[in-house]
Order: sequence, then C-alpha cells, then structure tokens
Amino acid sequence: MRESTRKNDAATVRCATERDLDQLHSIDQVIFLDDAYQFFVLRQLFEVHGERFLVLEHERELAGYAILATTPDDRRHSWVLGLGVVPRDRGRGYGRLLMREAIERLTADEVAEVRLSVEPNNEIALNLYRSMRFETIDRRQAYFGPGHDRLIMARKLG
Ligand SMILES: CC(C)(COP(=O)(O)OP(=O)(O)OC[C@H]1O[C@@H](n2cnc3c(N)ncnc32)[C@H](O)[C@@H]1OP(=O)(O)O)[C@@H](O)C(=O)NCCC(=O)NCCS
Repeated sequence: MRESTRKNDAATVRCATERDLDQLHSIDQVIFLDDAYQFFVLRQLFEVHGERFLVLEHERELAGYAILATTPDDRRHSWVLGLGVVPRDRGRGYGRLLMREAIERLTADEVAEVRLSVEPNNEIALNLYRSMRFETIDRRQAYFGPGHDRLIMARKLG
C-alpha cells in the first residue's frame, strides 16, 4: 500500500477496505446529502473497483474519498466516478491530494486519459480540476436526468 501526505498535515490516502464501508457511507451522506450513494451501491463500487477506491484518513477518521473506474474495453480510459471531502475538512488540500494520488495511480496503470463529470456551477470543483489540467470537452444536458446538466472534463496522462 502506498501512502501520500501533503504539507504538514498527517493525512493519508490509501485503498478502502471492507471495514471502511460503514464510515464511508456516513461521510458520503455528509458530503453529497440527497445525492449520496445507497449503501448497497457503495458496497458494489467497493467490490468492483477495489484498489481504485481511495479513502483519505486524518487522525484515524475518514475525511474524503475518490472512486476511479477504468473502462474494460481497452483499459486506456478512466473515469473519476466520485470525489468528496467532508465539509469540516475542506480547503486543507485534501481534494487535491486525492486527485494527485488518483492521477499517479492511473498513470502507473498506463491509462491514457481520465475523465469526469461536474456540475457547471460547482466552482470549487471546477477550480480544482482546471488547476490540475482538466479541460472541458463536452457540456451535456440532463446527463444525470432532467435538471442535472454536467460538464465533461478530461486530462491526458503520461
Ligand atoms: C470539490 C472538493 C472535493 C474540493 O476538496 P477540498 O479538499 O476542499 O479542496 P482543496 O483544499 O484540495 O483545494 C483544491 C482547489 O480547489 C479550489 N478551491 C478550494 N476551496 C475553494 C473555495 N472555497 N473557493 C474557490 N475555490 C476553492 C482551489 O482551486 C484549490 O486550490 P488552491 O488551494 O491551490 O487554491 C470539496 O469541495 C467537496 O467535497 N465538495 C462537495 C462534493 C463535490 O462537489 N465533489 C466534486 C464532484 S465533481
């Protein structure tokens, strides 16, 4: 297992384990409110994405997570399916730390491009992604159903 730390903050990014699921479910609800995953979805994402389901731990508490999925066709493209940090720990570099670790792992896997979807008015997430060289490649209406438009962003790796 690899670990990452940023600045003087003793935060660690590691792969999720089965024992994290209850706490992950709790923090997901705090992060995404009505859009949080149901427990069974979280469980299935964990089973399928294994080492690409990353959690950020600070003082033995989970403070954020990122889920990465590589497409099965040519294994050259990945999606960031989820990224979140609990409100009390935002603005401390944890979102960037998770994304850096994600990109490092995907690059090591020789993934050529990583994509994600983001709400057009989510300025904080947009600032983070743009600062990490993601570019908007599409704007999709009703991407997640009526009223849920999304920008599709991508970054080449390697
Ligand atoms: C988006 C999110 C993951 C960012 O996490 P975070 O830990 O707060 O972000 P960081 O502290 O690592 O900051 C990374 C960058 O985001 C931007 N950012 C962070 N807080 C910001 C704020 N209050 N206003 C504007 N930009 C901000 C900055 O570009 C920042 O880089 P900088 O510190 O070099 O200026 C977090 O806000 C979150 O969980 N939001 C709710 C869930 C969500 O929207 N997820 C993304 C779905 S696509």
